[in-house]
Amino acid sequence: IVLMGGLGADDKSALEKIKDRGKLVVGTSAGFPPFEMLNTSAAGGVEGIDMDVAKAIADALDVELEIKNYDDFSVLITALQNGKIDMVIAGMTITDDRNESATFSMPYYKADQALVVLKSNTDILSTADLAGKVVAVNTGTTGQYYIEDNLPDVGEMKPYGTASDTFQALSGNKVDAVIIDSPVAANYISDTNPYKIVETIETNEFYGIAMSKNNSEDLVTEVNKILEDLIDSGEMEKIISKWSQA
Ligand code: ARG
Repeated sequence: IVLMGGLGADDKSALEKIKDRGKLVVGTSAGFPPFEMLNTSAAGGVEGIDMDVAKAIADALDVELEIKNYDDFSVLITALQNGKIDMVIAGMTITDDRNESATFSMPYYKADQALVVLKSNTDILSTADLAGKVVAVNTGTTGQYYIEDNLPDVGEMKPYGTASDTFQALSGNKVDAVIIDSPVAANYISDTNPYKIVETIETNEFYGIAMSKNNSEDLVTEVNKILEDLIDSGEMEKIISKWSQA
């Protein structure tokens, strides 16, 4: 039985499965600019830094790309574990907890957290002023964990499935502040938007691509090679500046 099991389809490696299928299935959660944004006219309905990286990986593997967008960031790891997707590319920070349930690629982006309030707000100047305040976070993210671990005085933490929903809650006066990844916060700052960043919280996070822990050594090795090539060739810089505001 053990020997027969060795011939079963389930024993194909993660990379073999993708190649046989001729398609790479990437899970993401849009509304997280400049990494993933909904755009009906984009291939797969989502565009941004992560989607260009996804396309580069699919191209290098010589397979088609399918994007599965989830309206709730916090379900991505479960989708990965259930085999619904081959990898998560979603500005996902490599953390010890997530390392228990997924294998990460090498890091491809560094980020911190940022505290964002309305331009009109005069009483929140830093995280020290959040006592009793209502703070929006993207559900199941490192912003949420930062509050849980470091800001016990926050009055109420409101989780939203997408990052863009946290900003809508802020402009709609449903919350007093947002704590979110710094590059995403920066993306929302403009002359015409009502937001300002009052503090950057140096959490020193690194984004990685999450893959299944199940028989994925060859896929992880391949993805790391592709990422290294993107970084060494300068292509990653190009992708990042293409989507980042001047
Ligand atoms: N970097 C943070 C984390 O890993 C936030 C990621 C949110 N990504 C997204 N596509 N909504 O927890």
